[in-house]
Amino acid sequence: MTRTALITGGVSGIGAATAKQLQSGGYSVIANYFGNDAEADAFHKETGIPIFGWNVADFDATQQAVAKIVAQSGPIDILVNNAGITRDSTLHKMTLEQWRSVIDVDLGGCFNTCRAVIESMRERRFGRIVNISSVNALSGQFGQTNYSAAKAGLIGFTKALALEGASRGITANVIAPGYTDTGMVHGVPDEILKTIVSGVPAGRLATPDEIARGVVFLVADEAAFINGATLSINGGKYMA
Ligand code: CAA
Repeated sequence: MTRTALITGGVSGIGAATAKQLQSGGYSVIANYFGNDAEADAFHKETGIPIFGWNVADFDATQQAVAKIVAQSGPIDILVNNAGITRDSTLHKMTLEQWRSVIDVDLGGCFNTCRAVIESMRERRFGRIVNISSVNALSGQFGQTNYSAAKAGLIGFTKALALEGASRGITANVIAPGYTDTGMVHGVPDEILKTIVSGVPAGRLATPDEIARGVVFLVADEAAFINGATLSINGGKYMA
């Protein structure tokens, strides 16, 4: 039986690496994107993976898009909530917009997509949900009260959902990546990034593939007993 996976923020960085690894593993994959149309088109041309553009922070748009995907590709067995943004600022300078946008996309987006797929997963008694958090949810990060809060929120959300889904064959788990070689991390000023990398025992950034490997592990049918876990993949930067 071919499982169908939806990956939000799936055309670049960790999301794209996950989409490609799942595709190679024989899964039917669908990637969401928002605002990076050219990158999405290039990804689709390269991989043949269907792409759907919408803002995961928008509840109604998410329900409509998922309904459209299901009509075209059948029910979603696997959901990877990877879409995320940063709006780094120390709290004393942070605007309400910087706070809200990160909470709405990084945490609200997870609610919106999970809500769109959960009833069908319950009916079909199978589901795999993986939420991409961050090392900075566990350690905190200077300049990221918004992001650390949203990403830590994902961990509590996932644990509660893990309890609700367990009797229905649905697992929910978290991956907490460390600093990874993606556009998001390269947005950090060079000098600050150098200092951060020097604090990683592995002495380097993660590759997106190294994070995706964890997702592929957690979404397997055989991973049925892994539920409510947080898997850190951070090169030893923070050991919780
Ligand atoms: N710890 C302690 N003090 C620090 C510090 C740190 N890590 N970084 C800066 N400071 C100090 C500065 O030395 C300076 O001190 P003085 O006021 O005494 O001179 C002061 O804090 C600067 O404070 P400001 O409020 O003026 O900060 P700023 O506006 O210059 O910059 C910032 C704030 C934009 C958030 C900047 O620190 C920054 O970009 N930090 C990186 C944040 C980061 O790691 N983001 C990760 C993005 S990638 C990601 O999130 C993916 C993932 O999951 C890992």
